[in-house]
Amino acid sequence: MNDNVFSVAIDGPSGAGKSTIAKAVAARCGFVYVDTGAIYRTVGLAVRRAGRDPHDAAAVAPLLPALDISFDYGPDGSQRMFLGGEDVSAAIRTPEMSMYASAVSALPVVRGFLLDMQRQTARRQSVVMDGRDIGTVVLPDADLKIFLTASPEARARRRLAELAAKGDDSTYEQVAADMARRDHDDASRAAAPLRAAEDAVTLDTSDMTLEQSIGAVYDLVRRRMAERAAL
Ligand code: DC
Repeated sequence: MNDNVFSVAIDGPSGAGKSTIAKAVAARCGFVYVDTGAIYRTVGLAVRRAGRDPHDAAAVAPLLPALDISFDYGPDGSQRMFLGGEDVSAAIRTPEMSMYASAVSALPVVRGFLLDMQRQTARRQSVVMDGRDIGTVVLPDADLKIFLTASPEARARRRLAELAAKGDDSTYEQVAADMARRDHDDASRAAAPLRAAEDAVTLDTSDMTLEQSIGAVYDLVRRRMAERAAL
């Protein structure tokens, strides 16, 4: 690890609050927040637009070399995703794109393609990076690894509220069923399945408010930074 940068890896299932918590902690620490799920979603969108089957590696692989994916940060610190220069930040946040992202993320060819982009980002600056395999594969030497989880009910309720705020009229049952399927697919796939790194701190946020969760993660970061400074 580069001594001048500090990296926090946050992994966990969808709806555990990873993105919101990681973004808030990054802002508090002055670190860059990297939402790797958004990168997989952007690949999913490109595959959808090309009319390819997202489960079919032979159909997806030829698209990858020409993919022009980039991201930057808006005035409020939120990560904006671009595909071929077009801002697709809103287009990737639909239930359909969740499924496309989950499907393409199971393909080793896609994971390999995105690995460098993620590692380079953490090499250049201090980051809070969230995803499914950050502590296990992308940044195995991260200074701090957190596995953020919550009960399926708490996660479905949160995701429903997020979608409703955007005008999506999905029901709790639909959201819970989609989430259960995605959890199963993400955890059972052969390529980089969702699991906690052995040296990760597990944090269950089911009974925590958002502020409490942010505070808990921030405390872990502060403590680890102090430990590292003392070395
Ligand atoms: O965090 P999210 O819901 O935006 O992620 C979308 C999908 O991408 C999710 O189903 C799993 C996948 N993903 C992954 O496999 N590895 C990551 N590091 C991040 C996301």
